[in-house]
Amino acid sequence: MVSSTCTPFRVSVIGAGNVGSALAQRVAEKNLADVVLLDVIAGRPQGLALDLMEARGVERHDRQIIGTTDYADTARSDVIVITAGIPRKPGMSRDDLLLTNAKIARETVQNAIAHSPQAVLIVVTNPLDVMTHLAWQASGLPPRQVMGMAGVLDSARFQTFIAMEMNVSIADISATVLGGHGDLMVPLPRYSTVSGIPITELLPEETIARLIDRTRNGGAEIVELMQTGSAFYAPASSTCAMVEAILYNKSRLLPIAAYLQGEYGLNDVFIGVPCRLDCQGIATILELNLTDVERNALHTSATSVRQNVDRANQLLAATV
Ligand code: NAI
Ligand code: 2OP
Repeated sequence: MVSSTCTPFRVSVIGAGNVGSALAQRVAEKNLADVVLLDVIAGRPQGLALDLMEARGVERHDRQIIGTTDYADTARSDVIVITAGIPRKPGMSRDDLLLTNAKIARETVQNAIAHSPQAVLIVVTNPLDVMTHLAWQASGLPPRQVMGMAGVLDSARFQTFIAMEMNVSIADISATVLGGHGDLMVPLPRYSTVSGIPITELLPEETIARLIDRTRNGGAEIVELMQTGSAFYAPASSTCAMVEAILYNKSRLLPIAAYLQGEYGLNDVFIGVPCRLDCQGIATILELNLTDVERNALHTSATSVRQNVDRANQLLAATV
């Protein structure tokens, strides 16, 4: 942490698209930190930043929002969030997308960390767990300073579907989703509760299976509805919760894509697990007791992430 009591915290958001701009708004309007919004498209981050600045008279906060294409403006950031990337386009293979986003992740992280080597790095760009691994490799940072956002979002979606099914307040619901961000994520009904009561005691198995399925397809459901673009409000809220926990040293326990070094029997892979965050990033990784089925599901998810990291590194090496 570089900010003193006289200097506001600074958060740099790399990628001023839907998630990046919604995140900038949340961080500034919650009065958490000054925000630097950076994109490759000249004018876009500057325009968004000016728009957000002009909202201050109504929203009543004093945070500065800067829009830029120059990494020098991100210097001395406390937290850097990577949302830069491209979505899959018609005619593009998975490998094309993997390679393009891998290059973007590597380039943006190297540029941003060069100006803020002490920052905590949060990756949002998809495929999330793979990009987080590549970002960590490109950053040269200790693993505890690098993390991916997905579990907070996936758990929030599971929470929402439980609340809708049971017609109870979202405030009474806590949900846990581990694993990679995608089809192989691992929602844990035993650790998902309504007022402390596990949903396995409250809902039939078929209903829980349906809610899990909807959670796994949560991102795709929104893409299907929107047709152009993907979810950004809930992703921005989820990332903002992580940013706040780090900046204000809140000791929150959240599902985070973290680098495992033996935890859950896994090594050298970023995957979603419960982590306690502090002002330097990941303070501790909590090891839950898992059944064989849950543990196998986590390992299957980790194997898929690892294969894609290897594939991305092969593709990157072949382009040098
Ligand atoms: P978007 O397309 O609206 O924004 C991406 C932005 O990145 C664009 O403004 C683009 O100009 C910028 N960009 C591209 N290359 C860049 C570079 N080299 N340097 C700086 N900026 C660059 O996309 P959106 O909706 O904001 O999503 C961003 C990423 O986050 C996507 O990869 C998406 O799949 C992912 N995502 C991940 C979630 C998660 O749970 N981890 C949830 C939602 C989105
Ligand atoms: C989501 O889950 C696209 O990963 C993004 O909404």
